[in-house]
Amino acid sequence: MTAFDYQNGELHAEALPLSAIADQYGTPCFVYSRKAIEQAWLAWDQALAGTPHLVCYAVKANSNLAVLNLLARLGAGFDIVSVGELERVLAAGGQPSRIVFSGLGKTAEEMRRALEVGIHCFNVESTAELERLQQVAAEMNLKAPISLRVNPDVDAMTHPYISTGLKENKFGIDIAKAPEVYRHAAQMPNIRICGVDCHIGSQLTDDTPLIDALDRLLALIDQMAAEDIYIEHLDLGGGLGVTYRDEVPPTPADYLGKVRKHLAGRDLTVLVEPGRSIVANAGVLLTRVNLLKPTEHKNFAIIDAAMNDLIRPALYSAWMGIDAVTPRTDVAPLQWDIVGPVCETGDFLGKDRELALAEGDLLAVRSAGAYGFVMSSNYNTRARAAEIMVDGQHSHLVRRRETISELFAGESLLPEV
Ligand code: LLP
Repeated sequence: MTAFDYQNGELHAEALPLSAIADQYGTPCFVYSRKAIEQAWLAWDQALAGTPHLVCYAVKANSNLAVLNLLARLGAGFDIVSVGELERVLAAGGQPSRIVFSGLGKTAEEMRRALEVGIHCFNVESTAELERLQQVAAEMNLKAPISLRVNPDVDAMTHPYISTGLKENKFGIDIAKAPEVYRHAAQMPNIRICGVDCHIGSQLTDDTPLIDALDRLLALIDQMAAEDIYIEHLDLGGGLGVTYRDEVPPTPADYLGKVRKHLAGRDLTVLVEPGRSIVANAGVLLTRVNLLKPTEHKNFAIIDAAMNDLIRPALYSAWMGIDAVTPRTDVAPLQWDIVGPVCETGDFLGKDRELALAEGDLLAVRSAGAYGFVMSSNYNTRARAAEIMVDGQHSHLVRRRETISELFAGESLLPEV
């Protein structure tokens, strides 16, 4: 059984019918399953049992405080990319010593705050960043722990927008240049080298490129050790895919089993930064059919969610499963385009979906727990959706729906004359 299954003809989140959630909180809303999030994190952690490791959840995938707090309670580490994410993790009870700071454009202020709270490591992406970090750490009279994010030049074979490990991508330091940057770092008085890392892309359904990247990193570690530059941890980034439709990605256990084989006999701590694989299938976007608009060419079901709530179909042509919460038998199924009310042709969540629909029906957009709410916007002055966490028979509002007045509360008019 998964966290979102049909029971008595109605789609449930754990033990709660989604219709009850819609009645209580309104639509559109994101609904998450506590159990699914916890099980997914534990699958990663358990797959590394017996090896020194830290599973750093990639906060960007879903940064709701309740989600972060559940993971913090399990002892998770966190992968952050901004001071905003850092403050969220701290507010949610995450331990600073388990945080890695990724991202290629860290500001001096962000570095200062991360040093002040004592994060585990900065994943450094350029020489310029390294030099800035040395300067900030010197001003604070501290040593900044660093890992170099190298670009191993492997093709992750995923969507070009979420592929990051090729030479032409903006991310990381060319692996051929990495030894030179490590030597430079080793000379810096306020820098402490602790790791190496890479992240080659997201939604990977084959682990071959991840293992290729691992081998390239191990060769680099050996090369540096020969120069007396010792690397303690190996951070493999995130990227493991999930099933949206019929993809069959490796499980964390399959993938990490291979990783462990390649690491046999080495004294390395393993870090991973999974995001999507922990939260994607732990959430749905619950939405109601507002109007039906059958035309000669196409049938449009206009829902109350839109591209501003879930941009993945518009941005990456991503396919997301869409199911009726209470499938009906009193009308014939038709092919529907499931579209939002936003004034863009790209505002669709699914095309040509066979569904039996009537106005007012509830639909669940599957796999919306990752890169859903976090990528939402206020385009067309639409308030962002509520977020609900289900825990067995209970539901909790973990982010209330925005109000219209909040949307322009920070704006002001020019003086009269
Ligand atoms: N670590 C780093 C440095 C990353 O850049 C990312 C994701 C992750 C970890 C987590 O990767 P995951 O395990 O979630 O694949 N918005 C896109 C995905 C962008 C991923 C960006 N980086 C989407 O909706 O498909």
